[in-house]
Formats: sequence, structure tokens, C-alpha cells
Amino acid sequence: MSETSIAAAAEPTSFAFDPLSDEQIAIILKRYPPGRQASAVIPVLYVVQKQMGRLTGSAWVPRVAMDAVAALLEMPPIRVYEVATFYLMFNTKPIGRFHLQVCTTTPCWLRGSDDVVAACKRATGIQHMGETSVDGLFTMTEVECLGACVNAPMMQINDDYYEDLDGPRTEALLAAFRRGETPPIGSTIGREGSMSVGGPTTLTDEAALWNPEHYAAERRARAEAEAAAAAAAAAPPPAAPPPAGE
Ligand code: FES
Repeated sequence: MSETSIAAAAEPTSFAFDPLSDEQIAIILKRYPPGRQASAVIPVLYVVQKQMGRLTGSAWVPRVAMDAVAALLEMPPIRVYEVATFYLMFNTKPIGRFHLQVCTTTPCWLRGSDDVVAACKRATGIQHMGETSVDGLFTMTEVECLGACVNAPMMQINDDYYEDLDGPRTEALLAAFRRGETPPIGSTIGREGSMSVGGPTTLTDEAALWNPEHYAAERRARAEAEAAAAAAAAAPPPAAPPPAGE
């Protein structure tokens, strides 16, 4: 969908939950006691956004869908609008197929988020935050800390995190999406979890005590040594040698 067609697709005149959404909403509503369905407004809005992404390629929440949520949850529409417009995770305008949410908060900035932003602009043609690429594939948004600072800089693309980015790796990532591939999520340099960039530096010795087998062996050896020492202490003293000359 091009940027023009995205704009043209804005604000549909009707919205209906599809069967998959109906199924998901039925599960969500069971979590709340009768009369408290309004508490489900956030997860239900999320279902709407996923449905829009599934059916149109643009994951957003149109006004008519907010009205449908209000009717479903028996709450005033304004209460749904307030929630949908307050939280950044809800897109109240059409977006591209891939939503690039680039973290620029201090840890990511110190680790090079400017390079990530520049690479996103180069790879997509987007000039400013909040814009959608002309081919309708990408929308770039600036976000605050996404809680993955340990592998900064990072960005979220749709529901997934891509970490340890730099300019070239960001461009390669977006090129892969453009080709229709789904790159592996997480660290782009193969870091596992939050381990050090240079690889693990602790608990690397197989014979170290943290290894359960070696720990058990060490405990056995210590217990045997203690038992031997106790037995030696309890044993009668050796008989004194006979005096010389007898
Ligand atoms: S500062 Fe970027 S994830 Fe925390």
C-alpha cells in the first residue's frame, strides 16, 4: 500500500470483528467478572489492531473500531478514545506493514541510535519520525526506552525486538524485510541474552563448583576428609615405645 493509498484507506465507514478476533475476545472477557468488561478495553483494542494488520496490512485502530469496542464492552465511546489515544502502542492512523519503533533514549543514544535512525531513513526514504515510506512498507516512530538497553541500540519492528544494531546491520535488516524474509529476532550479533559482547567471562570452567557433578564430588571429598579426621581424633593414642635397654 503506498503512502497515498494509506491516506485514502483512512477511516473506514464500518468495522466488524472477524472470527479469529471473536475467538480471542471471548477468551479475554472470561478474565473479568460480570459487569467489569470495560477493564478489557486495552486487550480488545489490541485485538482490533491485530485484525486490521492481518486484513489490511496496516495495524491500526480506526474510529469506527473504537466505537465497536465501546458497544461490545458497554462503555461510552469517549472512554475508548481516551485509552486508544493515550497509549503509544495503539496506532490511531494507518501505518506501514513494518512499524519501525526506534528507541532513542539515553542508553540507546549513547550506543549509536543516531546511526540506526539514519540507516532507517536511508533504507526507507523516510525523512522524519512518524512518516510512512512511499511504498507503504515502513513507518518510523521514535520511542522511549523499550527495556532492552542491555543490548542497545535496538528497535522494535511490529511485535519483535532487534538488538545490537548499527547502521549497516539496520540497513541489512530492512532489506531482508523488503525481500519478504523474517530475520531472526533478538541480537543481530548473536549475543545470547544479556551476556557480555566479548562472550561469557564467568562460569566458563567446566570443573568449577557451579557444575552440579563437580559440586557433589567436592562435597563428598570434604565429607570423607572430615570423617577421617574425626576418626583419627577418636582413636586411642598409640602405645608408648618401651624404654631403651629393656
Ligand atoms: S534505552 Fe533503548 S531500550 Fe532502554
